[in-house]
Amino acid sequence: MVSWNNLKQIAWTELSQSKYLVYQRGQALGTKAADVPSDASAVNYDQCFVRDFIPVALLYLIQNQPIEGGEYGPVQSREVVGNFLATLLKLQIAPERALESPPGMMPASFKVEDDYLKPDYGERAIARVTPVDSCLWWLILLRAYYRACLDDPTQFHPDLFDGINVQPKLRRAIRLILSLYLSHRFDGEPMILVPDGACMIDRRMGLNGYPLEIQTLFYAGLQAASEFLRPEEPYQKRIRHRLNRLRRQIREDYWLDLRRLRILYQAQNEQYGEAHPTHSETDTTTEDRFFNKYNLYPESIPFEHLIQWLPEKAGYLVGNLGPSHIDCRFFSIGNLIAVLSNLMPAEKSWRVMNLIHTRRKELLGEMPMKVCYPAIEGLEWQMVTGCDPKNKPWSYHNGGSWPMMTWMLAAAALKARHQGLIEQLREDLIQAGQRLIQDRWPEYYDGSNGHLIGRMARRYQTWSVAGILLAQELLDEPQHLTLIHFGEDSL
Ligand code: GLC
Repeated sequence: MVSWNNLKQIAWTELSQSKYLVYQRGQALGTKAADVPSDASAVNYDQCFVRDFIPVALLYLIQNQPIEGGEYGPVQSREVVGNFLATLLKLQIAPERALESPPGMMPASFKVEDDYLKPDYGERAIARVTPVDSCLWWLILLRAYYRACLDDPTQFHPDLFDGINVQPKLRRAIRLILSLYLSHRFDGEPMILVPDGACMIDRRMGLNGYPLEIQTLFYAGLQAASEFLRPEEPYQKRIRHRLNRLRRQIREDYWLDLRRLRILYQAQNEQYGEAHPTHSETDTTTEDRFFNKYNLYPESIPFEHLIQWLPEKAGYLVGNLGPSHIDCRFFSIGNLIAVLSNLMPAEKSWRVMNLIHTRRKELLGEMPMKVCYPAIEGLEWQMVTGCDPKNKPWSYHNGGSWPMMTWMLAAAALKARHQGLIEQLREDLIQAGQRLIQDRWPEYYDGSNGHLIGRMARRYQTWSVAGILLAQELLDEPQHLTLIHFGEDSL
């Protein structure tokens, strides 16, 4: 069995190879999604994806070491992160270019062809999905980069910062993102309404509407944006207002635990107007005055599964919510980002992590961690995914296990100070790491316990390597959490 430090060493040696880097005129701009042959079979895995680069970038910031640069010679790892952020700045849709894509938008991925950047805003992606998460991840990474490099401001990319000062063009880019994400549309503010597949789950999985992952990233992204704007900037007031409303709505409406389930079971329907006591005139507890504002029908909620599955001292945020629609699946990224972004009070964050700890067998299994639990099956799978064979039950996004999730899991466990889970992870990561090395770093695993290598998984998937190594780094040196978590800095 590989040792903890040995695993770290193997993972870093793997990741710091030039084969993963994307170059333009000798400059490393980011990493490919996977080390794949550059032919048609690569599909788009030879591109640098924004969301895939996040764990790699955080590691590059932490390590601050030269990485093997192949024919171009060694490159300082933080420099790659600066180049990546500046590249996205260039690729952001400018107002004068906004014929087909909205101004402010950033691509899901890019590649370099004949020395030119070739971004993909979703127009070439499988199923042509819109990457709503890219701008939000970019903001979160920008904040991490700023925090990491503050010790030596000469390292900053000149397009981003001048000394420690924000460059005007960076501020303009942030405003453009804010104007896109804060604009009034026909949606249900404070949430943002998005199409299916607008985030890490980029295939049809019933996420259209108000999926948790986008709402929590939005919450984190807004906080990051605010840190780079001057206090007198007009957007500051709108950000604060939106953050307050977003936090209240997600905390109150998306939260599910046994207590809330009991209330939902009694929910009444067809209620009009303002909230008012509906259950009993004499009962004064606020939750018993539950007002079914989404007009949820109790018949649509899998009570039997949930009362058996949810431990007493646990809870989580549901996956999606809308008119007569509650998606009770557990979506990992949304829940973990909610913890990291300080969206939830400490006690509730701890309960989310306690759910993961108690339901370790189902949510982590043999390969942490599932992106979504449980899988949808049968007719529901047919209707919701459109019979997508890649997302068949317990595979890929539909109940599959993704090693890249381990960094977020470790970070959230540290943030919530869940000691039991933190200790458990030290063992789980060794087991998972051992398998990942043997299996050549697959993209994902299949099966209800994550035992099978994903049927269509790429090997040498970059964020699988980075995910586990970053998790280890965070557990070893929790002070690095300041790069990625929001709220009080003294953890
Ligand atoms: C798949 C994943 C997506 C990821 C991409 C590249 O499409 O669903 O989240 O960014 O692969 O790895």
